[in-house]
Amino acid sequence: MSAVSLYSKASPDFDTKLAETIALLKRAAQEFSPLTQASSLGAEDMVITHLLAEHKIDCSIFVLETGMLHPQTVAMIGRIEARYARPVEAYRPVAEAAAEFVSTHGDKAMYQSVDLRKACCGIRKMEPLSRALAGKKGWLTGLRREQSNARAEVEFIENELVGEPGERAKVNPLARWTAGDVWHFIGVNNILYNPLHDEFFPSIGCAPCTRAVTLGEDIRSGRWWWEQESAKECGLHVSDSAEGQSSSLSTISSIIPIKEVSA
Ligand code: ADX
Ligand code: SF4
Repeated sequence: MSAVSLYSKASPDFDTKLAETIALLKRAAQEFSPLTQASSLGAEDMVITHLLAEHKIDCSIFVLETGMLHPQTVAMIGRIEARYARPVEAYRPVAEAAAEFVSTHGDKAMYQSVDLRKACCGIRKMEPLSRALAGKKGWLTGLRREQSNARAEVEFIENELVGEPGERAKVNPLARWTAGDVWHFIGVNNILYNPLHDEFFPSIGCAPCTRAVTLGEDIRSGRWWWEQESAKECGLHVSDSAEGQSSSLSTISSIIPIKEVSA
């Protein structure tokens, strides 16, 4: 069953949300140029890439190609470039650092401790992210408030005070969208998406750290599933307030909305 038929469910105020997202993207391109999109090549990011192309918004696109992504995810790079005629720049880890980490700690280090997992994310995501963002005034992400407790306070624009060298705005144009909104928009516009989404991968990261979920499970329960919820961020989106969240704060709001399917 396709992810669109499973999850598509527009909010009553979807049209308002869409208009607010488009206005924000246009404003970000004007105020925070040069602007770039951080794309994990997942559903949310495909919505943003589609809107950038549709509204001819000036914004580059990059992916942190960790060397651990599923082949279906990596294949999205060429598919996006062919569909939208926009390059997707891949930022990879420093090869020696990645190889040394594996030779010292083994290729299953991420399961041994949160510290080792974060060290792997540091080499494969955080260091490449700093290169991807160098010289940019703004970056777009696909973060949504509904995704987790740690993301419940996500703002449309964070760190708006752009003035100091190295300071940049983080723009989250889908902050208010539900998963149902995302899949509604993908379905209506026939937007490309990672085929893993059709195999019950609602949230897709590196292959060793992502697995399928079962119907009704939390959206992010397939990510770093062996860790406590409070640890489940790789560092791309961690703020001081988010880091201290407790797993006991788990709420129903991050459960995948399952569209009722008639028998
Ligand atoms: S993660 O921090 O747990 O990996 P998640 O997969 O939910 O994050 O993605 C949230 C947003 O982070 C994405 O919409 C995207 O903007 C950014 N992001 C995550 N992974 C990548 C990646 N590999 N490359 C570029 N951006 C990414
Ligand atoms: Fe390493 Fe997993 Fe982090 Fe990817 S998500 S960088 S494989 S620990």
